[in-house]
Amino acid sequence: MALLAGEALTKRFAGVTAVSNISFEIAEGEILGLIGPNGAGKSTLFALLSGMLTPTSGRIVFKGTNVTRWAPHRRCHHGLVQTFQLAQAFPDLTVEQNVRVGALFGAGRRRKRDPSALTVDEVLEMTDLADRRSARSTELTLAGRKRLEVARALAASPQLLLLDEVMAGLNPAELAEIVEIIRRIHGRGITLLVTEHVVESLFQLIDRVLVLHHGQLLFNGDVRGASQDPAVVEAYLGRADASAIASA
Ligand SMILES: Nc1ncnc2c1ncn2[C@@H]1O[C@H](COP(=O)(O)OP(=O)(O)OP(=O)(O)O)[C@@H](O)[C@H]1O
Ligand SMILES: [Mg+2]
Repeated sequence: MALLAGEALTKRFAGVTAVSNISFEIAEGEILGLIGPNGAGKSTLFALLSGMLTPTSGRIVFKGTNVTRWAPHRRCHHGLVQTFQLAQAFPDLTVEQNVRVGALFGAGRRRKRDPSALTVDEVLEMTDLADRRSARSTELTLAGRKRLEVARALAASPQLLLLDEVMAGLNPAELAEIVEIIRRIHGRGITLLVTEHVVESLFQLIDRVLVLHHGQLLFNGDVRGASQDPAVVEAYLGRADASAIASA
């Protein structure tokens, strides 16, 4: 059984079909990539999975349960957690306090029953934030704020973690660090769905990729296949990352 299945998911806003009839599965233990040009529907699909938005039609099945109409906090307690493209940390709290909030409101009662749940200290170590634990979140660099976003989600003890553009705007050294952090998270048995424009870094992490374009699922398969797929190359033509796709 898949850990998560999206079944014929569609989300329409006035005049725009942001996600159009998309079906896919995520297997337990996998790192699945999600790519597509700006406006392709990636964040909308994430919002459907995490419960920030309700689909116009279609179903989301997580661990065998239909969660399509569940509120985000209920999905989170069940192990389905997302980060946001724009950092959402509490500005007046320290790094450690922000992570504690994630732990308190995240896994809820499940944490007490789950011996594998990460402690706040483990989360700070895993995200390279231990030495910044007393800093206010606003004092962090962009890379630090991205790692805090991951840390807050991780503290909620996810089984499936959805990462939305945690690499955007980072320099090469910071990219290498976040790739290593995502590997660590995966090494703790957490399944990941990762969306990125930085495909060179993403492709180091994933075996399989979903490609969205104009709300439609253009491709679902291995990274090498994506780089050789004419429709995928076409969708990226004229874009800075086209050569990265084609050379993957
Ligand atoms: N709340 C909304 N109301 C109306 N239209 C929306 C809303 N959210 C997204 N859209 C539209 O849906 C489409 C998909 O947007 P979405 O943010 O999901 O794309 P994306 O792939 O995440 O893009 P990016 O790479 O720029 O983050 C776009 O045309 C966008 O303008
Ligand atoms: Mg987006």
